Amino acid sequence: MAKYDPAARAAKLCELINDYRYHYHVLNKSIMSEAAADSLKHELSQIEERYPELITPDSPSQRVAGEPLPGFKQVQHSSRMLSLNDVFDETELNAWIERIKKLLPAGAKLEYFMDIKMDGLACAIVYEDSVYKQAITRGDGFVGEDVTANVRTIESVPLRLRQTKDSVKFLGGRTEIRGEIVMYKDDFKKLNEQQTKAGKPAFANPRNTAAGTIRQLDPKLVAARPLHFHAYDLIHENKAEVLTNDFAYKTLCSLGVIANPMATVANSADEIIKFHKKWEQQRQKLRFNTDGLVIKINDRRLHERLGVVGKAPRGSVAFKYPAEQATTKVKDIFVSIGRTGAATPVAMLEPVVVAGSTVQMATLHNEGEVHRKDIRIGDTVIVHKAGDVIPEVVEPLKKLRDGSEKKFVMPTHCPDCGTKLVKAKATEAIWRCPNTACPSRSWKLIGHFASKGALDIEGLGEKNVMALIQAGLIRDQADIYSIKKEDLLKLERFANISADKLVLAIAAKKNPPLPRFLFGLGIRHVGEQTAIDLANHFHSMENLRDATIDELSAVEGIGEVVAEAIVEWFEQPVHKKLLAKFKRLEVELQAVRKTTGPLSGKSFVVTGTLESMSREEAAERIRAKGGTFQSSVSNETDYLVVGANVGEAKLVKARKLGTKQIDEQKLLDLLAQH
Ligand code: IVH
Repeated sequence: MAKYDPAARAAKLCELINDYRYHYHVLNKSIMSEAAADSLKHELSQIEERYPELITPDSPSQRVAGEPLPGFKQVQHSSRMLSLNDVFDETELNAWIERIKKLLPAGAKLEYFMDIKMDGLACAIVYEDSVYKQAITRGDGFVGEDVTANVRTIESVPLRLRQTKDSVKFLGGRTEIRGEIVMYKDDFKKLNEQQTKAGKPAFANPRNTAAGTIRQLDPKLVAARPLHFHAYDLIHENKAEVLTNDFAYKTLCSLGVIANPMATVANSADEIIKFHKKWEQQRQKLRFNTDGLVIKINDRRLHERLGVVGKAPRGSVAFKYPAEQATTKVKDIFVSIGRTGAATPVAMLEPVVVAGSTVQMATLHNEGEVHRKDIRIGDTVIVHKAGDVIPEVVEPLKKLRDGSEKKFVMPTHCPDCGTKLVKAKATEAIWRCPNTACPSRSWKLIGHFASKGALDIEGLGEKNVMALIQAGLIRDQADIYSIKKEDLLKLERFANISADKLVLAIAAKKNPPLPRFLFGLGIRHVGEQTAIDLANHFHSMENLRDATIDELSAVEGIGEVVAEAIVEWFEQPVHKKLLAKFKRLEVELQAVRKTTGPLSGKSFVVTGTLESMSREEAAERIRAKGGTFQSSVSNETDYLVVGANVGEAKLVKARKLGTKQIDEQKLLDLLAQH
């Protein structure tokens, strides 16, 4: 790689961030996510901190975002529309609280007002003697655009403020209500479905769509799009009457606008953190997108007294959730061999924190994907990670290249065993190592066999599997059952107790249930649910082995590709030997007995998540009472058990077929029968 040149890097970062800003704030287009841009800004600010001489007047750190678009009348705001500084964790939150406490009289009891930070566009709406008069976008904070005609079409914006006993003091004269214009997630989805049907390009995200809509010059177009206004601030000459933000929200509601009902008061940092955790977990359930909370000092006089630094009030902060995207550099790209032999290019990254955890590797899926995205070694890339999902490289930032980046060349041979990589069909995207004895394949396959969803053998994690392979003790899944305590004691990783434990844990799994065993074999396309469906239908390994493609495809939920993969698996000599070895080592599968019980003859499908048990547990408990557990609703299904976060598709199908829908409690009642 070329020698690091901070000046050149800063100039390139500056150019790219400005480009992003222009697209985002002026044209309402997004060329990368806000989190990725923040990550670049962070890198630039670190360079500027170290080398202040590199700060240029056009650096993003030197300017306030957003220039009003020509085409709308420009209007001066009655008071500046400010931004918020961010805090990302408990330490930064406490530091903010400490800073504030130092500025206020000693012993002042602080209350905090908390609301969800909505991802939309800010708008100030002015009422004159309670009648809708003007709506102004944020613009640069001092001057915004007059979007009165457009905002008038938003149904949640009252054209006259409601008169109630609580609102009456704020109706006379000038009343300004500030808030966020948002498009709800489900409306956005519907809109994009319509766009696709009409052959038009899809919109990028709800925020941009809302912003783009408000800046349409034709209000009729705006009226056709579903937008909503959620208020967060009230400005009235009767300011002395609005002592707290809490009161402001109550008044906003009584004036007839939406103010988020979950907004509430906290008395300590602990309470703020609890609220933050709660909404981080539940944010999916909100109708709009959010990336954190807004925390304000509840007492509005104290808030005002704390003043403004730069463009943000001292008395408020945005308490963000960990960013799901960040930028980092690709140090190298290597190829990893999976349990089915799939050769997957993986990017080795400079460690970066994404969604609260450090990411060092990200899958690139396959050779074609690396070239389609044009990801090169040495590139700065955007990495995405949401919750527990595997981190992914979204795209390289080509403008940051300095010429030293290297293209990735897919190896022709397995990096582990040296066998030539092959493709099943020329059209397939994935190269595979065909050597079933490849150590990488065995390692992943045995690890998978012992893992939680399969045989669930305690103490047989990836590291121990690797040690056992390296010591020559195991080569395939069946070998596990030949492991003896004396063998283990020769390895550094094991002592008397741990060796005993592992041998016992393995012995305890000598009669595995058929579905778990089937899943553990690692047959391509046979996931946990398919394994359950196969076991339900064929009852024994022998029946399954003898099944034809047609017989397999006839099973509900099994398509031709899966059927072919199963037949192909049983035909391979190494798998025939493997099954024979299991037999020799006395691994006896629990046959799927047609248990009779109170649920005999009844078929169940579970949709969504259950609170009291996992799907596997539900399947096992239903079977133990004689019932059948299916993966999808058909006309043979008797009950659809509806859990939380349900998929719409299954419900629609059940409704069409007239399948009885029951909740988790009803299932528990049925299971409790004798
Ligand atoms: S309170 C000083 N409450 O976030 C401005 N703002 O980054 C703070 N926002 O421009 C106003 N949801 O448009 C507040 N519940 C909420 C908000 C919220 C979104 C926006 C607001 C502001 C930006 C600041």
